[in-house]
Amino acid sequence: MNPIAVLLAAGEGRSLFPLTRDLPKALLPLNGKPLLERIVYQLYDLGISQIVVVAGFQKDRVAATAAKLQRQTAVQIHIVENDRYAETNTLYSLLLAAKHCSGKPILLIDGDVACDDKILADVLRSEDQAVLAVDTGRVMGGEEVRVVFNNDHIISAIGKGLQKGTAEFLGISKFSAPLARQLFQAGRQILAKGKQQEFYEAAFVAVCGQSHSFRALDIAGLRWVEIDFLTDYEEGLRLFGSSSEIRQYRASRRVQPQCLFCPGPVLVSRKVKEALSSAEIGHRELEFSELLNRTRLKLGRVFGVTNFHNYTTVVLTGSGSAANEAVLGSAGIGKRLLILSNGEFGERWMSIAQFLDLEFETLNLRWGQPFPLGEVEERICRKAIDAVCMVHHETSTGMLNPLERVAALAARYKKDLYVDAVSSIGALPTNVEDNGITFCTGSANKAIASVPGLSFVCGKRTSFDALKTVHAKSLYLDLYKHYIYNDRQYQTPNTPAVNLFFALDAALDEILDPGLSQTFERYRSLAAQLRAGMTRLGLRFFIPEEHMSPVLTNVELPPGYGAGEFHENLKRLGYITYPGKGILKDRVFQVANIGEISARQVRGFLRALEQLTK
Ligand SMILES: Cc1ncc(COP(=O)(O)O)c(C=O)c1O
Repeated sequence: MNPIAVLLAAGEGRSLFPLTRDLPKALLPLNGKPLLERIVYQLYDLGISQIVVVAGFQKDRVAATAAKLQRQTAVQIHIVENDRYAETNTLYSLLLAAKHCSGKPILLIDGDVACDDKILADVLRSEDQAVLAVDTGRVMGGEEVRVVFNNDHIISAIGKGLQKGTAEFLGISKFSAPLARQLFQAGRQILAKGKQQEFYEAAFVAVCGQSHSFRALDIAGLRWVEIDFLTDYEEGLRLFGSSSEIRQYRASRRVQPQCLFCPGPVLVSRKVKEALSSAEIGHRELEFSELLNRTRLKLGRVFGVTNFHNYTTVVLTGSGSAANEAVLGSAGIGKRLLILSNGEFGERWMSIAQFLDLEFETLNLRWGQPFPLGEVEERICRKAIDAVCMVHHETSTGMLNPLERVAALAARYKKDLYVDAVSSIGALPTNVEDNGITFCTGSANKAIASVPGLSFVCGKRTSFDALKTVHAKSLYLDLYKHYIYNDRQYQTPNTPAVNLFFALDAALDEILDPGLSQTFERYRSLAAQLRAGMTRLGLRFFIPEEHMSPVLTNVELPPGYGAGEFHENLKRLGYITYPGKGILKDRVFQVANIGEISARQVRGFLRALEQLTK
């Protein structure tokens, strides 16, 4: 009797995202046809007359395709729905199919397998009670199911992570009616123990141990692929598609330019992009030392340093958080910190301090609440406090915090001051010298308009020197070590992201050459243009304009829009903004105006907004 085929096609295929965002795995096209169609036609050609398809994720689309195939082939296709596909696995799906299989042999096929016709033909032709198609020529990663078998091809072990004498299981197997019944029974017992997440191979293991009749059919040399990951899909196209299809697929995955109105990464200039592809240089060579020092000096100017004997800058390979963590993990040790917080990045200072097990207290304000300076002073002046942490521009709310006022208080009471200027540096003066800031952090990919990957700490030389006796909490982010390497040896302790230094150097030229004040003015004017335009469209802002920075505006979502939908609609028009986070989730979207943005692009952005809001 010809078996009934069971195709398991319920899963979400998360590892194939974004391919599977709109398409269930079983409908991924190979050679222009959905996987499901490919298998159904193969089975039809081999004389199979009944197929059970277990569908879950986007089951309606799977069912519609199955219905079409049934009409085209006259194969009877039963759709079984696994509505719990998100919390179950292939064993659960297999058992849902059982009702159509009673008394019949089954041909069990994973719905994400594509293979040569001969593989299916050989499995069907086999007269064994239980046969598993395996490939001795290929044993992939630890995630794959493997089998061990003897010279007579009798299988002794099945599972993931088997090491010796193994072959990979293809996800194609066939069982006689009595063995299929045993499999279903074993499967039910496993599920009864609450193991909803089991794969059907768990039932194989149970039955294989009792029956000793599971045989491996080695198909080494034939072509097949199980599409679990994006790379498997490309392999599938290579094996069963055409070269033009691979080209098309790769082209479709090519990233389209996005007009970034988000607070980093930002659009960068052509010169910065070109600098990224500068010649490769060794980081222990003189050429890198020169690049490093040039960059550090220019950064110092952006931070407001005029006396390089008093202040210096250290560059780290890592995003802005690396700089903040380096400061607290080195300078924060043995000190009692006062963290001033009125948003996400104030809270981030707290998370770092907590993670590093530092001694700290907080003035924890509502997001978007201006610093109450009387209370700030009352807290700073306390004897127990050694250092104050604050965020200059609180990116999560768009609020500009009063750096000069807090700096004056820190100076009056002789406290150290650590400032996160990650999203303000390049757009606003930080004046580290005038403000007497101990350490001030920044990153390359915001208002400085370079690419992500480098961050920096500008600080007092005496404060860097004082770290000599401190045992930092991190080996990699030991600020003193970076300082000594940067400042004394003109090198970095570890391999730096060399190309990013070229890009940063070019970006610094672009903001310093016209004069920093002109760059500040450019951002101020773009922010004003944006805000005037958005106000005209009737949009409302989260904080009053007088508290805003010239970097970013937090805008209330237009009525009727969810955050995700609004983001996607704007993206379709070519513009990327960021959704609000924390308490602002689903309430606002963030519009930044930093990087290589022009007044013309702002006008385009406003037209896009108008389209969505009218
Ligand atoms: C003010 C501020 N601090 C710190 C960070 C963290 O930077 P990163 O995500 O680059 O590590 C950000 C990021 O947006 C920020 O805006």
